[in-house]
Amino acid sequence: MVTGAAVSVSLDCVLDDNLTQLKKLNSILFPVRYNNKYYADVLASGDFTKLAYYSDTCVGSITCRLEKKDDGAARVYIMTLGVLAPYRGLGIGTQLLNHVLDLSSKENVSEVYLHVQTNNEDAINFYKKFGFEITETIRNYYVRITPPDCYVVTKYIGQPQSQK
Ligand code: ACO
Repeated sequence: MVTGAAVSVSLDCVLDDNLTQLKKLNSILFPVRYNNKYYADVLASGDFTKLAYYSDTCVGSITCRLEKKDDGAARVYIMTLGVLAPYRGLGIGTQLLNHVLDLSSKENVSEVYLHVQTNNEDAINFYKKFGFEITETIRNYYVRITPPDCYVVTKYIGQPQSQK
């Protein structure tokens, strides 16, 4: 476990030349193997996807897909958010999520949403702290993991603001 009150973390874009950092992180953090479409969406999302560095070590990431709703409004789908276990509780997840929420406000995104496994209480509580709410339950969303059910967790964006 890493400790320290003042944690210096920098956020970096994901480009072709550091995509392997993200692939390594995902293989450690998530029980799902991500396909080429996921990595194409990552590269197309620009500033909405970030790697977090603690000193020179890549320790976390947030990856997003940009979508258009039927009415033409923009929305952001958070595909993954994760921080390596020894670096959790240091505010890195908060920094990554606030980056996407701030950018969403600036870019007139109306909604940020994600899927989370129904038993992932830590992540659900984490998102609730930022004003996300459970908006739907989808049974059998996941094919290879148990439980297979997920919640759709959504934050509707109004005025520009950061939580915490
Ligand atoms: N257990 C309890 N509380 C937690 C945990 C945890 N594992 N993680 C974060 N929190 C709380 C903290 O106590 C903190 O609250 P506080 O500021 O009031 O004390 C708050 O959440 C923010 O903590 P951070 O340090 O900013 O968050 P962290 O860097 O630890 O990252 C994250 C949070 C990303 C959820 C991390 O726990 C993680 O990587 N989990 C595993 C991967 C995961 O489940 N990701 C989400 C899946 S859904 C998706 O990807 C779309």
